[in-house]
Amino acid sequence: MKSLHFGARLCKLYVGANFSQIRIRKEDDNQQYRGNKFPLAVTISCTNFCNLKCTHCQAENYKDKDIPTTRFLGLIDEIAKSGCKKIGFTGGEPLIRNDIGKIIDRCRKRGLYISLVSNGTLVPNRVHELKGLHLLFLSLDGNREVHDSIRGNGNFDKVIAAAKSAVAGGIPVAFLSTLSSMNYKCIDEMASIVNNNRVHWMVGLIQTEFTGNRDQNVDSKRLKEIINKIRKVRYLRTSKKYLNFLVDGMPVNRCFAGIGYCVIDPRGLYTLFSCPIR
Ligand SMILES: C[S@@+](CC[C@H](N)C(=O)[O-])C[C@H]1O[C@@H](n2cnc3c(N)ncnc32)[C@H](O)[C@@H]1O
Repeated sequence: MKSLHFGARLCKLYVGANFSQIRIRKEDDNQQYRGNKFPLAVTISCTNFCNLKCTHCQAENYKDKDIPTTRFLGLIDEIAKSGCKKIGFTGGEPLIRNDIGKIIDRCRKRGLYISLVSNGTLVPNRVHELKGLHLLFLSLDGNREVHDSIRGNGNFDKVIAAAKSAVAGGIPVAFLSTLSSMNYKCIDEMASIVNNNRVHWMVGLIQTEFTGNRDQNVDSKRLKEIINKIRKVRYLRTSKKYLNFLVDGMPVNRCFAGIGYCVIDPRGLYTLFSCPIR
């Protein structure tokens, strides 16, 4: 029932989109940049500050000042007015910002579909501020031992507590897992944690370009076997296309970065570096 609900929301999101934003022709690209149309989906890294120091993350390398609340709310208005339908918040840790409730409320008022990625540590005390979210991603990087070795002692229990309190508060939750050499051996246990908590599951692959820690990459010979295990998990929401891309290197038809999608950094500047296929 939950997954039907989730599917219905996604349909609404895409059917509600401006057709030309989804099906633009190659020759229209430059026109799109010049015109008023904005990407369908925007991710805002709303702060680089974080209360954890994860072994695979590079957020702490950037210490730019976050944009203030008034400018942030104005940015949401501009994004919505330009035709964007879907907004995602990441960081750093978005809940480090004490105005996150106000930001979510503004997104709701502007009719945006809103998701947020969190490490969960601050969620139980802030559930009331997060009620406007359509989806709360909580990062789960392993079983208790592995998650805590990546994210610090006690944080596995905190993310599970976060999932329970968000679900109890009526917020749809997905665990978000980054596959790496550190956690692929406990993938069965991670699947059981997802199944036991009955929340959605999104899986992505570690990117080591920024950190330079190539030893954190998953052994390419094991990747297919691991992905095939992941595919069987009932609550998995990662697209088949992305999983095929990981296993077979199947080319993605088009990259929508800058046209269908863009990222705004904590200073309020936009970047076009990735493609939202997962
Ligand atoms: C950067 S964090 C920010 C949100 C929040 N602080 C958290 O821990 O979920 C967002 C997600 O990116 C993932 N991530 C961090 N470094 C990564 C990397 N090098 N490659 C791929 N994903 C990464 C994290 O595990 C987390 O699930």
